[in-house]
Amino acid sequence: MAEGFGEFRQKITFRTPASRRRYSTLLVPLIFISVFWLNGCAGNGKGLDENGNPIGNDGGLPVAFDPTYTNIQQNVFSAICIECHVGATAPQGLMLDSDHAYDNLVNVHSNEEPNLFRIAPGDPDNSYIIHKLEGGPNIVGGQMPLNRPPLSQETINAIRVWIAQGAPRN
Ligand code: HEC
Repeated sequence: MAEGFGEFRQKITFRTPASRRRYSTLLVPLIFISVFWLNGCAGNGKGLDENGNPIGNDGGLPVAFDPTYTNIQQNVFSAICIECHVGATAPQGLMLDSDHAYDNLVNVHSNEEPNLFRIAPGDPDNSYIIHKLEGGPNIVGGQMPLNRPPLSQETINAIRVWIAQGAPRN
């Protein structure tokens, strides 16, 4: 018994340095590879979209058109929404004609959901207009445009990306 254990110990002590060496010959290149790989990610522009904004905050979504305010005004607000959202009696006081839309939306609290801005620059998920266009789940009233076919997801994405980029006025 005792002899057997002694042999066993001997085997371990004999083996350990060799296996350590074997592991370290594997570990050292692995560490080098990971360090270079991590450096590469930080420095080669991967993870950024064409405007240099980080992908992930809606930067990589398929969009119906170039996500600028000018295009959104022309293709969405002026084309579809001003059927109702115009003039002194506009629903919820939200006028979406080109003279008023930007100032009625960006950093303005929603009437239906006062905890949210209609548009919160940089934060499409917490912009009430996106909830209203996508139809929920936590909206008051109907999906927009009310009683009309919903916008395509690519069109909503263009608004999402514009908001994610800070909702600039151009
Ligand atoms: C047919 C009329 C109609 C059209 C078209 C329409 N809306 Fe509305 N909208 C309303 C009405 C009525 C309300 C208030 C009742 C409700 O929310 O259902 C409203 C409410 C809203 C609100 C909530 C405002 C707040 O302060 O809480 C937003 C945002 C909105 N609409 C955006 C849009 C957008 C963007 C479009 C175009 C894509 C659009 N609407 C098209 C009738 C319309």
